[in-house]
Amino acid sequence: MSNITQRPNIKVYDNTGTLAAGMYNQFRELFTGQRSQNRPLHIALAGGSTPLAFYEFLAKRPVDDIHWKTIHLWWGDERCVPPDHSDSNYRMVREALLDHIDIGAQNIHRIRGESDPDSETIRYGKEIEENIPLSPVGLPVFDLILLGIGEDGHTASIFPDSDFSADSISYCVVTRHPGSGQKRITLTMPVLNQAKHVAFMVSGPAKADVVSKILKKQIELKNLPAVKVIPVDGILFWFLDRAAASHLDK
Ligand code: 6PG
Repeated sequence: MSNITQRPNIKVYDNTGTLAAGMYNQFRELFTGQRSQNRPLHIALAGGSTPLAFYEFLAKRPVDDIHWKTIHLWWGDERCVPPDHSDSNYRMVREALLDHIDIGAQNIHRIRGESDPDSETIRYGKEIEENIPLSPVGLPVFDLILLGIGEDGHTASIFPDSDFSADSISYCVVTRHPGSGQKRITLTMPVLNQAKHVAFMVSGPAKADVVSKILKKQIELKNLPAVKVIPVDGILFWFLDRAAASHLDK
């Protein structure tokens, strides 16, 4: 692998199983409460299919391994569908993780995809403001935000050419998937960049090209949402499987 993968926060694994274990080991102190010393820990979960392996890995940890009573789970984005819809990111996490762990309902902060989208951005923003410490500039500071990436360079539900959500003063906004037209609710880029840790989890050959272009900082991609994920004070990680990393040495 070229020197790109030698960068400390780009980690390449054989497959999604070892990738999930690697991510857990990287953030073990967060999940086990060693770092948080019993203060609430706020983690925003990624949607889509890639993180499924990670959520299933967390679900299988020994009961006393993870300090679920102090971990608050949020969503980085949600499709505007009911929570039992097959497209729901909440449903995906519920089936892979929540149904298998002992976590209090008060620690689960789902985006209500069934609600009016504009009203829900206001409600979710207030829930965030009431629970998560704010930075000096008034933005919520998540302890960890998990992200996926689309082949077009979108992340969360911030899509290329999403004019306002990249710099919105809101914590979350309504966007629309450019292909399906499906309405989404997403955390905004300033919120993503305020987190203490931001972790892209990427797998499969279809993502190899976009990953390679972004990590090689190819200039034509400068306006893609995923390129704009540059934590202000936090640390950015890329967790890749070999297939997604396969163009890095080209
Ligand atoms: C979503 C995600 C989205 C996802 C990417 C990758 O709600 O779909 O927020 O940003 O992470 O589209 O999706 P896959 O993991 O399914 O490839």
